[in-house]
Amino acid sequence: MSRRPFVAGNWKMHKTASEAGPFVSELAGRVPAGADVAGCVPFTDLATSVEAAAGTALQVFAQNMHQLPQGAFTGEISAPMLLDLGVDGVLLGHSERRQYFGETDAALAEKLSAALDAGLDVILAVGESEGEREAGETESVLERQVTVGLAAAGDQVVTIAYEPIWATGTSRTATPEMAQEAHAFIRSLLPAALREATRIQYGGSMKPENAGELLAQPDIDGGLVGGASLDAEPFLAIVAAAG
Ligand code: PGA
Repeated sequence: MSRRPFVAGNWKMHKTASEAGPFVSELAGRVPAGADVAGCVPFTDLATSVEAAAGTALQVFAQNMHQLPQGAFTGEISAPMLLDLGVDGVLLGHSERRQYFGETDAALAEKLSAALDAGLDVILAVGESEGEREAGETESVLERQVTVGLAAAGDQVVTIAYEPIWATGTSRTATPEMAQEAHAFIRSLLPAALREATRIQYGGSMKPENAGELLAQPDIDGGLVGGASLDAEPFLAIVAAAG
């Protein structure tokens, strides 16, 4: 089965709403029709991004959400709030959320279920730290993150992003062979009925220069792109490499 490549930009905490509008308009105008491409943008950029991407192939994702639809959770945003803005999906479990904001696998499972129930698409990010890789724990970490995170997905397909923490926001990239090995392992953890249909993106210093060889691996179905998604040229070059 051939999976359609899916490339998502992760802007992290970059770009004001005034900057996002023209940037998304440019991207949306240049993304090939029929491609699966998304931008994961800060909350304050969602409305303007949805408006600028309307009617194009570019999808707009949030970078996090709370698991409950409403309540006394100061500073949080819920799935119904995202849906009401016309947002397409949500990135869950990015390593920076896990590392700096105490995101747990258990909370992520609840978030994933709430997002799917609301009709949002999900990218679930997983990945080991440098210490875990050196201690030989890569597979056990991935197994825990994938199985706990996806426990609530049932027969629904989500996208998984494999992001080795030691390669995100650094100049280090996993070699295509290392990435392929981790992707194949993640795929082996998936329920048989979803295994072939699930797209697994690679993330971690993906750039136009290395995207081609990473995307050529049989189990790498796209990318979650941080730094190189902040400018149109490198991001669109990666989209073209995935095409
Ligand atoms: P990077 O970030 O491409 O800048 O390494 C990827 C990510 O953390 O999503």
